[in-house]
Parts: sequence; C-alpha cells; structure tokens
Amino acid sequence: MSRDASPDEVFAAVEAELPPGPHDLLIYLHVPFCPSKCHFCDFVADLDTADLRSGPPIRARYVAALQSQIRAYAPKLAAMGYQPKRIYWGGGTPSQLNADELVDICRTLNLSFDMSSLEEHSFEANPDSLTLEKVSRLVAEGVNRVSIGVQSFNDEELARAGRAHSAQDAVDAARAIRGGGITNFNIDLIAGLTGQSDDDLKYSLDTCISLEPMHVTVYNYRPDKRTVMGRQIKRGDRPTQYVTSMLRAFDIVRSRLTAAGYEEYALGYFAREGKRFLGESYYFELTGDYIGFGSGSVSILGHHIASNTHKTFHRFRDDPLTFESYGRYAPQRFELLTRELRLALLMWNGIDYARFERLFGFPFATMRELPAMRRYLEYFENCGAEFVEDSTGLRVTDETKLTAHLRTYEASHLYTAGARQ
Ligand SMILES: C[S@@+](CC[C@H](N)C(=O)[O-])C[C@H]1O[C@@H](n2cnc3c(N)ncnc32)[C@H](O)[C@@H]1O
Ligand code: SF4
Repeated sequence: MSRDASPDEVFAAVEAELPPGPHDLLIYLHVPFCPSKCHFCDFVADLDTADLRSGPPIRARYVAALQSQIRAYAPKLAAMGYQPKRIYWGGGTPSQLNADELVDICRTLNLSFDMSSLEEHSFEANPDSLTLEKVSRLVAEGVNRVSIGVQSFNDEELARAGRAHSAQDAVDAARAIRGGGITNFNIDLIAGLTGQSDDDLKYSLDTCISLEPMHVTVYNYRPDKRTVMGRQIKRGDRPTQYVTSMLRAFDIVRSRLTAAGYEEYALGYFAREGKRFLGESYYFELTGDYIGFGSGSVSILGHHIASNTHKTFHRFRDDPLTFESYGRYAPQRFELLTRELRLALLMWNGIDYARFERLFGFPFATMRELPAMRRYLEYFENCGAEFVEDSTGLRVTDETKLTAHLRTYEASHLYTAGARQ
C-alpha cells in the first residue's frame, strides 16, 4: 500500500523514467483555512473547526512551510524539464490569508519557477475575505482568474448553510474582482441544498448571471453524514428526494445558464466565450502532471502519485518536506485511480486512452480486465450509466451521465430513515 516518502526518493523515481522535457506542469496550492465550517461542506468535514479558523500565528507558520516546500521542489522539477502552464489555488479558502502572505507566496513561486509558459493562474476566494486590495496585489503578481464560492444569493439560505457572508458581500466581491482588473472569474453555486426551493435556485442563478461571470460552476449538493446538514437529513429534520429533486434543479440550472449564453462543457461546469477552467480540466481529463503544495494536496508526476492529506495539517506545518503517502501507478493499484476515473467518466469527457496511458504508464485495457475494475464499471451501469466506447476512449452518454452521477452519491451518502426517495 501507499507509504510515506522523502521528496528525494519520489523525484529520483520520477526522473529515472521520465523522457526528456519540456513537460507541462499544473501547480496546485492548498490553503486549509476557512472563516467558518459550512454546514454542507464535505471538503473539510474531517478537519477541526479550530484548525480551519486558525489565527495569524498559525497561518504564518503554514505560509512559511508552503514557501519552503516550493523552494525545495521547484529546482528539482525544473531539472526534470517541468514548466508551469497552470496554477490553481484551492482549499479551504485561499483568501483567508492576508494580502502580504498571498504576495509572499506568489513571489516565491515566481522566483522559483520559470513562468514564461504560464497560461492561467487561478485563485479561489470567499466573498467575506476578498478585498479590492487583495485582488489588485494578486493581479500584480500574475493572477489572471478568480473563483468565488457564493453557493446562493439568498440570505436565508446562506444562514442555513452556516456561511459567513451575505448575498450583498458576494455582489461586492464580484465588483472587487472586476475593479482589480479581472474579467475572467467564476462563481460557485450549489443546486439542491436541503431546504432550497425552485424559486431560491432561480433567484440565485439570475443574480449570478447579472454579474456576468465568464464561468459558473454549479455543484449538485452532496449530502455527507460528517456534516451538519448531513446529520439533519439523517435525523429526518430535512426531507430529501435526492435524485428526483436534483434532476429538477439541474433542469432549471441548464435552461437558465444556456439561455444566458453559457455552454456546459463538463457536468455542472458552464463557460461563456470559451473560458473553460483549464486548471480543473487538467485533473479530470487526465491531461498531465501536477504538483500539489500544502497539506491536503496530491501530486502526479510521471507515473507516480504522492500526497499529503488534510489530516496532516499539523505535521505539514512542522515538516513540509515529506510526502505522507506515495505509490507508483500499476494496473493492480486500481485504488490510486478511482477518484480520477469516476470524475473523468461521470463529470468530464470520459477516459481518453492515449492520455490515460501517457499519464499512468500502462494501457487502460490492462486494468479493465481486472475484477475490481469490472465491478467498478458495473456499479456505474447499475446506477444508470450507458457506456460508449471506440478505439480512442470510453465515455458515458450525455443522456445518462447526470442520473448516474447522482445515483452514485445517493448510494454512498443517503443512508437513513430520514432520507425519503
Ligand atoms: C473546496 S470548496 C472551497 C470554496 C470556498 N472556500 C468557498 O467556500 O467559497 C469548493 C466548492 O465546493 C462546493 N461544495 C462544498 N461542499 C459541497 C457539497 N457537500 N455539495 C456540493 N458542493 C459542495 C462549494 O460550492 C464550494 O464553493
Ligand atoms: S465551503 Fe469553503 S468556506 Fe465553507 S467550509 Fe468548505 S471550504 Fe470552508
């Protein structure tokens, strides 16, 4: 199974197999802080609220750890021929850091890597902590895309979700983004949050569209028993008719956004004027190598995967130069690939065989014959997925993708007496 490893060991193993560069690289930067623990959020469900809400001294130590990791790994990556093409900040909430900390991290990146091939530098923010000053200073360091998590433009819904901001804060954040010089921005919304009416959803979509983001990401609500809302569902306090109501919500989402000129290029990912999110498509279209900096980040380099999970937040702060888990892809290491495969099939454009083989080092056909992989695909079929396959790849039909995607959530997360179908 996976084990911890030093970066020297990981980079030596990657280098031994890597053809000569240049190789495109995605950089992911993880910031594990939040203003509050939102009642729906499954990203941070395993983290202590006190850690999420860490004050300035702990944040400063995390920033220093992140910078030392960047400084240590960048020369090794450059020596292997890696050149950053995309940068993507996520979390948690990167905008929880103050403007000086953000600029320090950007400068460390800019000094450590050759950024001459960089196409996209995308920064994720919450409405309550994004200011005009932060946007302007990030733009000066090369950030050219911002994503704000809004979830809803309805104050009551925001309060029920435990959010730390109002709808007006979100409108102000969109203005700050434009004021700071960014037109390529994204708004995240959630469809089907428990308690959300069709009118709530329509109102949020219409307000979002009026702010003219280039990109809108609409997540289907994923009920998770580790969260406050998940526990409410479990107790039966919040009724749910998960798949049926989510399909209705997505009808509303698609008709509103399509009428406003957005194209849905992956499930729930809507872009105007071709402004797709390059950072995220990198992972889920199995496009190529990436390095993750910070706790809660994964790296895929050559045919190797190395990661630091969320739970290692404390260890990472004190010892950022160890990977908590490390493994080499092989057909039998099916468990290392399941997340990417699931999202490639059910949200994105399927598994492209040439890209799969380049990234993982063996043909998909080898893994496909394994009983575990056959069971995995059968599970999707049982959830309603219909596959189409040709010599270039395997994908799920557009007609069955959403239902299958929702049913996999229903099967894994909706669990109880309280959850009525
Ligand atoms: C990693 S979160 C970070 C975003 C940022 N911290 C914020 O709150 O705006 C990215 C997005 O995941 C979505 N998300 C989190 N938990 C979810 C859940 N249980 N179901 C659906 N979407 C969820 C939210 O839309 C959120 O904006
Ligand atoms: S939605 Fe964002 S702010 Fe809320 S808990 Fe999740 S990561 Fe943190």
